Amino acid sequence: MASAMNGCGGGGGGGGGGVMKRMGLLRVQYYCVMGFVAAAVVLATLRYMPAPATAPPTVDGGGATVRSSAATVDSAAAAAAAAPGGGGVERGKGKRKHVWSGEEEEVAAEKKAAAGVVVFNFGDSNSDTGGVAAVMGIHIAAPEGRAYFHHPTGRLSDGRVILDFICESLNTHHLSPFMRPLGADYNNGVNFAIAGSTATPGETTFSLDVQLDQFIFFKERCLESIERGEDAPIDSKGFENALYTMDIGHNDLMGVLHLSYDEILRKLPPIVAEIRKAIETLHKNGAKKFWIHGTGALGCLPQKLATRGEIDRDLDEHGCITRINNVAKRFNKLLSETCDDLRLQFASSTIVFVDMFAIKYDLVANHTKHDCRAPLIYRSSTEFSQESVRSLKKQKAKFIRS
Ligand SMILES: *[C@@H]1O[C@H](CO)[C@@H](O)[C@H](O)[C@H]1NC(C)=O
Repeated sequence: MASAMNGCGGGGGGGGGGVMKRMGLLRVQYYCVMGFVAAAVVLATLRYMPAPATAPPTVDGGGATVRSSAATVDSAAAAAAAAPGGGGVERGKGKRKHVWSGEEEEVAAEKKAAAGVVVFNFGDSNSDTGGVAAVMGIHIAAPEGRAYFHHPTGRLSDGRVILDFICESLNTHHLSPFMRPLGADYNNGVNFAIAGSTATPGETTFSLDVQLDQFIFFKERCLESIERGEDAPIDSKGFENALYTMDIGHNDLMGVLHLSYDEILRKLPPIVAEIRKAIETLHKNGAKKFWIHGTGALGCLPQKLATRGEIDRDLDEHGCITRINNVAKRFNKLLSETCDDLRLQFASSTIVFVDMFAIKYDLVANHTKHDCRAPLIYRSSTEFSQESVRSLKKQKAKFIRS
């Protein structure tokens, strides 16, 4: 984790890709901070993570509510196992505790533990583990892969993305992208996330509805294989007990930020409705455990700060664009309410909403606490670009040497 944070002070940072057509323009400086953001966000996710319980585990906006200060990396696993019908094995720090007895079950539990928790993820660059690189046949430029993997992996980060840390906390390996042609292992689930994707259908090639179709395609092929007596990476129990994670909406919001504030607010409900539809579709397909990320502090993105115009002159106390952060907060409020609503509707499901805004805003506001040097976003855009270019050159040289 420490390595993922190295050099974060020099990077520009960014909360993930733009829309697909802008992929080629994605600037190198976004990647550097992505690694540290991923690392620190996971730390923060775990800190802010609501205690897994039968009560609706929502973390509310503003970052004020910290339900479980004692949360450790194991709580994600516990949350995953908390839903009714969830596995009978609790993963402790390295040791497993069986919550039922009986040898047969124990053997089955051991087997299941060996296979790991199954995760299906849907999203954009915030959780892409190589999808866009595979499907577009592109190389993500350095410093991608620098901080942790030491080789390109197709992540829009120099380290791991949040999803990687979630998988690690669940004792399961990093998710393979759905369209990776070589070396994919789907025994612990599939990552359908593609950088640049929107929740809104048709706006991007791999919008959320398409990712859902891909999931259903995958599930049907698995069950078909099993019916024929062949092997499949995941069986029906695996699908039923899997954790379904979603981190999307970032690019939809990016696409409407040029509008007036009132116009933007009118665009939010249809975006959230798409995420709701996706959760409902998964639920119809037997999914019971959901882990839904809200959007980040988009008004703090260096990309936005470096290119801000007249409309976004107003900066808050931490140097972030107030108007854009308000949009992000409104979006998260709607999504959180949607999760509340779905929780009532799907009584036997567990739906966790994670307030990413609070987590990522904390990274900016309390950057020193997270081992990040003076964030460049505090400065004017000219200073930002000159200094970040200098710093990136230095980092790139170091990267090439290492
Ligand atoms: C910064 O950290 C302090 C102390 O942990 C906390 O109270 C505060 O809410 C944080 N600020 C933000 C914006 O998250």
